Amino acid sequence: MSKAVRFDEYGGRDVLRVVDVPVPEPGEGQVLVQVRAAAINPGEAKIREGALHDRFPATFPSGEGSDLAGVVVGTGPGVDGFAAGDEVLGFTDERASHAEHVLVDAANLTAKPPNVSWEVAGSLAIAASTAYAAVRAVSLRPGDTVAVSGAAGGVGSVAVQLARREGADVLGIAGPANHDWLVGHGIKPVAYGDGLAARLTGLDAFVDTHGDGYVRLAIELGVAPDRINTVADFAAVAEYGVKADGSFVKSAALLAELAGLVADGVLEVPIAATYPLTEVRAAFEELERGHTRGKIVLVP
Ligand SMILES: NC(=O)c1ccc[n+]([C@@H]2O[C@H](COP(=O)([O-])OP(=O)(O)OC[C@H]3O[C@@H](n4cnc5c(N)ncnc54)[C@H](OP(=O)(O)O)[C@@H]3O)[C@@H](O)[C@H]2O)c1
Repeated sequence: MSKAVRFDEYGGRDVLRVVDVPVPEPGEGQVLVQVRAAAINPGEAKIREGALHDRFPATFPSGEGSDLAGVVVGTGPGVDGFAAGDEVLGFTDERASHAEHVLVDAANLTAKPPNVSWEVAGSLAIAASTAYAAVRAVSLRPGDTVAVSGAAGGVGSVAVQLARREGADVLGIAGPANHDWLVGHGIKPVAYGDGLAARLTGLDAFVDTHGDGYVRLAIELGVAPDRINTVADFAAVAEYGVKADGSFVKSAALLAELAGLVADGVLEVPIAATYPLTEVRAAFEELERGHTRGKIVLVP
């Protein structure tokens, strides 16, 4: 048997259970991975609460989780790129990675570079690919000034670094506890709260990872809609015609590229905390406080 997170109804963190399930058997094109690290994401909390029922409904009992890194323990027919013992990272679209074992389509896996930690490898699929998409969407050129809201969160902490790599001047909107981390990565920290608009001058582009009015602010500051991307405010997408590129770009090839940047020491994915699988409720309690720097990771 193997442990996996399940929930049987929409609700708060108390609907999350860790149950024993049979170890799944890999089918055609599938790889069975023993999970070493699987990050958690705010979207998973929203799905579990039922807040995304219209767009991403759950069927019960539901599993949870997309991000994963681990060791291959078996392969199904037709898989020739992976073998037992391989260290891999990737994703599942089946809401299943918050578990000791997960079946993954071979096409959604890539090799884990040896010098990338399990925690970071298991954090890249959703947050880092979303950051990649969001930065690409606003078409940065050297010398542009871009602001990033939620600049030290799971998506934002990667977005600010990728924007910097494009040669942009990056204003990172974050709470004071994150300002030193931002400065250390060449980002100009900007405090949110009263008077924020006056602290955001000369913007060419805006990457919103927080929602809650940042798109409207960017429009009011004169940023063109096609140079604004939000991953958190879909009402603003409809209202202002801004972009909403996000995790749908994720692929094994993109994850290989992002993992390579980490391996080369040019991209940091901060790990705020790790929790054993059995403490999945506590992990989400910390995430849902809304001030995570980088990622929170389950380590089964
Ligand atoms: N569309 C997609 O494909 C997609 C994919 C991934 C995530 N998302 C969404 O993107 C959002 C962010 O996800 P995440 O994983 O980065 O979340 P996260 O790791 O929980 O980060 C939250 C960040 O928000 C910051 N924050 C809190 N209050 C703020 C404020 N008033 N102004 C600016 N920043 C503030 C916090 O920074 P401080 O500690 O500095 O306050 C924290 O670093 C969520 O809504 C998530 O659902 C969408």
